[in-house]
Amino acid sequence: MLSKKMQDMMNDQIQAELYSAQLYLSMSVYCSAENYKGAASWLKLQYEEETSHGMKFLNYILERGGEVELKAIEAPPVKFGSMLKLFEEVLAHEMKVTALINKLYEAAVKEKDYAAQIFLQWFIEEQVEEEANATEIVAQLKMIGEKSPGGMFYLDKELGKRGAE
Ligand code: FEO
Repeated sequence: MLSKKMQDMMNDQIQAELYSAQLYLSMSVYCSAENYKGAASWLKLQYEEETSHGMKFLNYILERGGEVELKAIEAPPVKFGSMLKLFEEVLAHEMKVTALINKLYEAAVKEKDYAAQIFLQWFIEEQVEEEANATEIVAQLKMIGEKSPGGMFYLDKELGKRGAE
């Protein structure tokens, strides 16, 4: 059985993951409108991943005999500026999510909830990957510089390959 504290934190995490999903879907829509089809497709896959993260927490609460509490999801922004600004926002957002996951893990350690610690390890590893991916894209965008249409075109094509390999 999950403690009330772990249950509450995991319910908050469902909300945070589903907000991440909304944010990336909104970014995807923005990129489509700006004609960055590859980035739009990358972000749409990210939206799907975040939804699955929320579902992992939801299913885990159920599996541990806890109560799921779905909360309101805030509306995300609709404008994100340049591609560099947008991906810097992705990175900043992922760093916030990492901090939340770390807090959850700290709570699981404090409560001696060994099962939750094992469950959360997957998310700890996932956050390393999420931050690395966003960091790489930000670095590439800085390398290209927004004034290089050829470079942006190439990077957008590369982003569009995600999920196709
Ligand atoms: Fe579910 Fe991108 O963290």
